[in-house]
Amino acid sequence: MKRSWLSVLVLAACRQNPECFGSDECVAGTICFEQECRDPRDVDAGPVMRTWFRDVEPIVIARCQSCHARPPVNQAPMSLVEYNDVRGTSLAGNPLIAEMALRVASNTEPMPPVSQEPLTAEQIQVFVDWAATGGAPGNAGSRPDSGVIGQNPLLGVPAVTQVQTGYLDLFGLAWNNAGEVLFFADGPGNTIYGLAQTGVQTFRTPGDIPRGLAVDSMNQLITAEVALRRVSRTVGEATVLPVVELFETHAFNGPYDVEVTGDGAIFFTDPAEGLMGRAREINFNGLYVVPSGAATANAVWQGPVGSAPSGLALGTADGVLYMSDAVDDVIRAFDVGFNGAISNERIFALTAPEPRGLAVDAAGNVWVATSAGLEAYNPSGLRWGVLLVPRIPSNVAFGGNGLTTLYIAAESTLYRTVATIPGIP
Ligand code: HEC
Repeated sequence: MKRSWLSVLVLAACRQNPECFGSDECVAGTICFEQECRDPRDVDAGPVMRTWFRDVEPIVIARCQSCHARPPVNQAPMSLVEYNDVRGTSLAGNPLIAEMALRVASNTEPMPPVSQEPLTAEQIQVFVDWAATGGAPGNAGSRPDSGVIGQNPLLGVPAVTQVQTGYLDLFGLAWNNAGEVLFFADGPGNTIYGLAQTGVQTFRTPGDIPRGLAVDSMNQLITAEVALRRVSRTVGEATVLPVVELFETHAFNGPYDVEVTGDGAIFFTDPAEGLMGRAREINFNGLYVVPSGAATANAVWQGPVGSAPSGLALGTADGVLYMSDAVDDVIRAFDVGFNGAISNERIFALTAPEPRGLAVDAAGNVWVATSAGLEAYNPSGLRWGVLLVPRIPSNVAFGGNGLTTLYIAAESTLYRTVATIPGIP
């Protein structure tokens, strides 16, 4: 709908906002609309005014980024992650914003491709209106505050404080609710410690390079052991029983992280770094599951020898398994079924370099230790930001009263801070 010249003149006479001929002339967060710099949330006229942050990005996160996140990971030619990505041109040299509107509305070459569920008519209209009104970014503050996007779990989290230092290299972290103990493992130091109200005590000095830790529903400690290339279970305080020592007839590389589902299935990763100079007996770097009660492991994901499947965390109600890859710098997600059956592999998020250990909070946010610090992602994989840690963190776990303490393993030091959203019980 076009305004008449008369109404444009009348509007110009009582105009309060700065004049403009393009959004580049407006201060950040405002856009040029009908020759005025306006807050995109205030404009409401003729063709529906759509903006990237408020209207388009939520659809792109949900329906496009499974392919258009880090090409060529899922065959798509370009990223559609940042507003800067969509300002570019298509392969044919057209503005990408116009190409997006064209492709989502296309009958012959639709996006998402025909193999996927189509967009709704309303979603298609959002792209068309957005392109027709200039493809503005809008204001990042206008991102929908819906249940999916949620509340930033980093807001109000105080700076981390040191619990204890002087270790060689910490990784494993697991909270035991029954004993109110945080187990933490120093791999090169060959020791598993317990942190309780009374302070830190040595729990086990096994000499097997303990790495990832988990506590099962019987409150028994499960350990990924690099030296013995196995996963073990500690019964009581002293008896260590192997859970699995071989894949078919081959030694593992050296298990890295472990997770246990409520029904007792044990997942573990087995990256190349666990080899520590020993001969490789398995020609992939796997994610394995040992179903409850079983004595053998199934390889449920097989990465190339250059990949680094690392940290593991289960999401709310064990429904999702997250796995970081410290070479690809991604977090993959899988749906988890009965007794460790997994399906629907997807890229959940792209992270800062070297993502390692993970934890999930009660709102479904995913926390990951990376070379940048402790990063937090919303349940759709959108990055909230990063909590700085004085050393490079390798792992994170919720513990303490009400699971509101965030414990962070970082090289020589165990840190903690207070979470605003608790962990998953
Ligand atoms: C299942 C994977 C997948 C999903 C989901 C997907 N795309 Fe694509 N997209 C592709 C592939 C593969 C191509 C390259 C082949 C082609 O152009 O058809 C592509 C090409 C495109 C192109 C053309 C790029 C160019 O430079 O010519 C646009 C635009 C596009 N996609 C937009 C979208 C949008 C917007 C969405 C979400 C609404 C989306 N895609 C969802 C896989 C996907």
